[in-house]
Amino acid sequence: MKILSIETSCDETAAAIISGENNKLEVLSNIVSSQVKIHAEWGGVVPNLAAREHLKNILPVIKDALKKSKVSPKDISLIAVTAGPGLIPALLIGINSAKTLSYVLKKPLLGIHHIEGHIYANFLQNDKIKFPVLCLVVSGGHTQLILMKKHLDYKIVGETLDDAAGEAFDKVARILNLGYPGGPVISKMADLYKSKIERHKLILPRPMIKSRDLNFSFSGLKTAVLYTVKKNKKVLKNKELKSYICHEFQQAVIDVLVAKTIEAGKKFKPKTIMLAGGVSANKELRKQLGAAIKENLPYVEYQVPDIKYSMDNAAMIAVAGYFRWKKSKNKKMLQKNWERLSADANLKIS
Ligand code: KG4
Ligand code: ZN
Repeated sequence: MKILSIETSCDETAAAIISGENNKLEVLSNIVSSQVKIHAEWGGVVPNLAAREHLKNILPVIKDALKKSKVSPKDISLIAVTAGPGLIPALLIGINSAKTLSYVLKKPLLGIHHIEGHIYANFLQNDKIKFPVLCLVVSGGHTQLILMKKHLDYKIVGETLDDAAGEAFDKVARILNLGYPGGPVISKMADLYKSKIERHKLILPRPMIKSRDLNFSFSGLKTAVLYTVKKNKKVLKNKELKSYICHEFQQAVIDVLVAKTIEAGKKFKPKTIMLAGGVSANKELRKQLGAAIKENLPYVEYQVPDIKYSMDNAAMIAVAGYFRWKKSKNKKMLQKNWERLSADANLKIS
């Protein structure tokens, strides 16, 4: 089957075509038009600006995805679109485009949870992932440990009590005048530090690392960076100090994420531990989580998404759509979803 998917929950206008057969999935096209430069001027995503850009880009992006895949609209079997969570003005552009296409082309339509998409990006890599799966979801809006006993079955076993991991990277980058988004630039700065011999004394906290539950908190870590900068104004002008703070901040986040994931792994005994979400693009996190699993849970398989499917894209939404379609008992009803589907900023994964 051929799936057309659309994603506009935040600041990327994305459309993809994938083909799927017996859980073997192939990305035929995956177009992402990023608005990062536009929002960078404001230090974060401005919802109405995002909607305006999505509106401008959505049809060219869908057209590009179809053209690149060489799939004709009449051969599409399903349309999948992100229904939430996300920014309502942004979500609405993708959803209304998908609903219109579903109505005009008489194709079934499925609304997908954005995080379900991130999780399912892993199934592009590997069609033999073993359940139960423990998934560490780390994005700009979410930090969760999710246990999946089977496909599309989610139990949140831990989550952040305040900021998400990606949000912490973005806020710390703003404090250090490093621009938006924070993750990629902080990890680059942190790499610079590695080559330096001199060690600095400043140690940032590892919040909740010993809390005996599986929850996270990153807001205090961000505040610790803020106080450090306020106390020592030199930091903003000194590249060496800045790169040290980036390294120490990144390591603090990784230490907590890894410790809690290993704790959850010992508790729930999954066959696979998986990473998902934009922060999974972080090379150190990928490496250090892999090493910790090898050391502490040697029988558990470790799965990470391809970097190009770590950050927001539409191919991941199509993959989730494929598995939802397979599970759907009344496929005819999906033809009528264009009448029903709506955006939900706080959609819960279920
Ligand atoms: O999943 P995503 O693309 O969008 C949301 O669903 O939120 O995640 C975006 C987040 C941003 O906060 C960004 O700073 C972070 O992922 N991110 C990273 C890296 N690349 C992106 N964080 C740490 N290291 C990276 N290399
Ligand atoms: Zn995302």
